[in-house]
Amino acid sequence: MIYARIAGTGSFLPGEPVTNDDLVARGIDTSDQWIIERTGIRSRHLAAAEMSSSDLAKTASERALEAAGVRPDDIDLIIVATSTPDCIFPSTAALLQSKLGIRNGAAAFDVQAVCSGFVYGLTIAEKFIRSGSHQRALVVGAEVFSRILDWSDRGTCVLFGDGAGAVVLEAAGAPGILASALHADGSHHPILCVPGGVAAGQVVGDPFLRMDGQAVFKFAVRVLGDVALEVLDQAGVTVDSVDWLIPHQANIRILQATARRLGVSMDKVITTVDRHGNTSAASIPLALDLAVRDGRIRPGHRFIIEGVGGGFTWGAALLQF
Ligand code: UT7
Repeated sequence: MIYARIAGTGSFLPGEPVTNDDLVARGIDTSDQWIIERTGIRSRHLAAAEMSSSDLAKTASERALEAAGVRPDDIDLIIVATSTPDCIFPSTAALLQSKLGIRNGAAAFDVQAVCSGFVYGLTIAEKFIRSGSHQRALVVGAEVFSRILDWSDRGTCVLFGDGAGAVVLEAAGAPGILASALHADGSHHPILCVPGGVAAGQVVGDPFLRMDGQAVFKFAVRVLGDVALEVLDQAGVTVDSVDWLIPHQANIRILQATARRLGVSMDKVITTVDRHGNTSAASIPLALDLAVRDGRIRPGHRFIIEGVGGGFTWGAALLQF
């Protein structure tokens, strides 16, 4: 039997942290106190104008490749989860392939599932590897969400940031992904979306992120609880056998509510939202990489990753490191 396991992780946050007070100084009608109390966010990173998602993905990927001890040309599948691609096409994954100097014909494509994108990408890569068609995948979440924010909308612009996280997933003799579940319900698309597009050389419609924060909050707490229970049930294990929970890093109150619902104490929840805000598809691999590098997640540990985002999409995976 062929399984898939994580061989290395990496991440990248561009530039210096931009604090809540920095946003106030830039003229946004908000306060450090409001942002911390409602979201837990203390700072975020904003990519310089010339940096794109594929640039952030490149550095995160190089770090994951180094951690895995593999060369770029050992990768035969590249999946980038992003809602802020460099351009309409080619895919950010193809551009990343070029920037990493991978010339072996590895398959490369993007996944668009917004903040659940990394869970979608990892689950897809696992199925490729378990089928025997591919040996070693680079799965990346990379975003420059600052490009799609309306900086006059304080209800959204303070919440998001830019960044990238990556893992190398490779064929193994023992399971590294014990269970996974992906879901979507497109009927909820209006509560979190960037409704505009590009046609005939023009931006058509509204090109900025729009959100009904309270509706998203309620939906997120419900499905993050449900989908974590679903993967535990699928694997036939209880939450007590899980060492760490890594939810999508959107808002500390969502993380706390999810942990409460699952009966998990907050010291088992990896939390990075305070330092980078909501980085959409990048948030889970960013949190994962931090916890691997600071020694909290160790070989043999079990953890759940779970995401929820525009679409609506949601999903989870139970992993053994
Ligand atoms: O990946 C998934 C993405 N999205 C999320 O996870 C977001 C989920 N939702 C949330 O996290 C919360 O709903 C928010 C943090 C977005 C908002 O928190 P809330 O407790 O739901 O606040 P609210 O929208 O009900 O607004 C409360 C007040 C309003 O003022 P009034 O009408 O009570 O006078 C807002 O105008 O807070 C005001 N407000 C702000 N004040 C200072 C909204 N944004 C800000 C701001 N600074 N940045």
